[in-house]
Amino acid sequence: MTDQAQSLRHLVSKKIPARPAPSSKRAAKIITITSGKGGVGKSNFTLNFALKLRSLGRKVLVFDADIGMANIDVLMGVSSRFSLYHVLRQEKSIYDVIQYGPGEIPYIPGGSGIADMISLSEEDLNYFVSQIELVSSEMDYILFDTGAGLSKENMKFITSADQCLVVTTPEPTSITDAYALIKVVHGNSPEVPFALIVNRAGDEAEARQASDKIILTAQRFLNLDIKMLGYVTDDPHVVKSVKHQFPFTLAFPKCEASRDIQRIALRYLAIPAQPESGSLTGIKGFMHRWLKRK
Ligand SMILES: Nc1ncnc2c1ncn2[C@@H]1O[C@H](COP(=O)(O)OP(=O)(O)O)[C@@H](O)[C@H]1O
Ligand SMILES: [Mg+2]
Repeated sequence: MTDQAQSLRHLVSKKIPARPAPSSKRAAKIITITSGKGGVGKSNFTLNFALKLRSLGRKVLVFDADIGMANIDVLMGVSSRFSLYHVLRQEKSIYDVIQYGPGEIPYIPGGSGIADMISLSEEDLNYFVSQIELVSSEMDYILFDTGAGLSKENMKFITSADQCLVVTTPEPTSITDAYALIKVVHGNSPEVPFALIVNRAGDEAEARQASDKIILTAQRFLNLDIKMLGYVTDDPHVVKSVKHQFPFTLAFPKCEASRDIQRIALRYLAIPAQPESGSLTGIKGFMHRWLKRK
């Protein structure tokens, strides 16, 4: 770890107090962040979006659910001894596994536990469910940073959550893969609501062009409405912060990418809650759907 990163960490841990909760009774909204293609910026987006929501007074838990390339902890410069794996084996409580990174963001490393979750019976999942219910009652949002593409695990996370944020870059391959993912998920579970984030955009026009391709195709061929939540500029500060293992919204709060994340977080919080559709929301709904999905 560099000296600069260390001093930033110190500064930030002092600077950001937990704000008072906007409401005392919580039903955490479960959001998956995914993509068709890998390496598009999901983990950076998840972490920095979580930090912004937190600085706006919301309680957010980040869950690293990427089996192949879990790296939220690397982005935060922390390492974890325990993961979901130990909770599923009932060796640890969820509180033993939660780590705190810069900005006091709590996160759960999925580790090899993610693959195990798929094959657990309802009975085996009970301890995990009781544990996750404990933390979720204290949260406004739980963000699952998943892997890319249509793996079995990814499908389960996406179709069990309350909402799916799809990250794409303006590259044609990333756009095509994002649409392919949306199409398959929608074919299996038409009720999953999607929103788009265009990452690494040159400017707003490029982001708009990329998102329009997906939004218009989905409207035309799937009769599906997808919201464009916003875009994040292609910004060298992001690369710098990855190298320093310190989130860019904390290291460079004024850089373009940080301002974009701020805009996205404000817009996200301004979207009115969906009217009750009759289906279960929050962690109860998540688990209900998780067990139902094959
Ligand atoms: N907005 C951005 N501007 C510049 N580079 C970015 C941006 N977002 C991501 N990157 C680069 O892409 C890499 C992969 O990002 P990451 O969040 O790990 O992707 P994923 O989780 O989708 O695999 C980062 O290490 C960084 O170098
Ligand atoms: Mg990632």
